[in-house]
Amino acid sequence: MLKGKHLIDPMDLSLEQLDQIFNLADDIIKNPKDYMEVCKGKILATLFYEPSTRTRLSFESAMHRLGGSVVGFSSAGSSSAAKGESVADTVKTIACYADICAMRHPKEGAPKVASLKSDIPVINAGDGGHQHPTQTLTDLLTIRSLKGRLNDFTIGLCGDLKFGRTVHSLIKALSRYSNIKFILISPEELKIPDYIKEEVLIKKDIQFKEVERIEEVIGELDILYMTRVQRERFFNEEDYVRLKDSYILDKKKLKNAKQDMIVLHPLPRVNEISVEIDDDPRACYFKQVKYGMFVRMALIMKLLGVEK
Ligand code: CP
Repeated sequence: MLKGKHLIDPMDLSLEQLDQIFNLADDIIKNPKDYMEVCKGKILATLFYEPSTRTRLSFESAMHRLGGSVVGFSSAGSSSAAKGESVADTVKTIACYADICAMRHPKEGAPKVASLKSDIPVINAGDGGHQHPTQTLTDLLTIRSLKGRLNDFTIGLCGDLKFGRTVHSLIKALSRYSNIKFILISPEELKIPDYIKEEVLIKKDIQFKEVERIEEVIGELDILYMTRVQRERFFNEEDYVRLKDSYILDKKKLKNAKQDMIVLHPLPRVNEISVEIDDDPRACYFKQVKYGMFVRMALIMKLLGVEK
């Protein structure tokens, strides 16, 4: 039963609940007209203290496509946070206006704090360098739809694995499926945090290796998950400039990849995927964007407890 729950961490959802969400998303994709009014009279609040294109607008499109309404703000500066209001007070206020909210915040743990004070479901739409569970739902639905399974594959995660919240959430979520091998591709300075390695990969005896060059491993991969080196997470510009072009996926690198490998990216990209490969059938990151909206439609329905 998902009605009334918060979604803060990908592990808040059991495998059975994930399946329920993905099955509902599949049905929404097939029969969108059946869902056009299911959230009529319901309001989603989008509380975004940090910039976003996909997450905020896909949540908003999702609610509109379900027949509901949306209120919210897209930056801390346009809310009373600018006057010093706490996240707890903001969410208590929003709960008087809306039925469900999605919150993005630069501080790790802010959506969790909000959920402790909220009478309505709070969805973590990305908290600092920590977690991004709805991106993970997007990634899992994309993989399930395009590869037909969520087990038995080798996935390469490439780029900023240190600050990349999408990667942290995806590893946690995939660690519950069988026979997944992780290849972690990053420069030394942007390696996956020890807590993910120790508490997830080593603890669960999951196969993984860490490498620095994409060329070494691209031929082994069923999925290549690229990420951006995130300027906003660096403490100094010098380190960012030195590392920002560590990986650029282009036609030459893709030559040695399997024909049925898929390339995913949570987006936005800067230049880590050359636009020259956008037309390659393996480039699936814009399909991934669309799955993100459908899976958020399914999630909103489940957390609100509304049915077709
Ligand atoms: N993938 C993702 O979170 O994109 P936005 O930052 O545009 O929301």
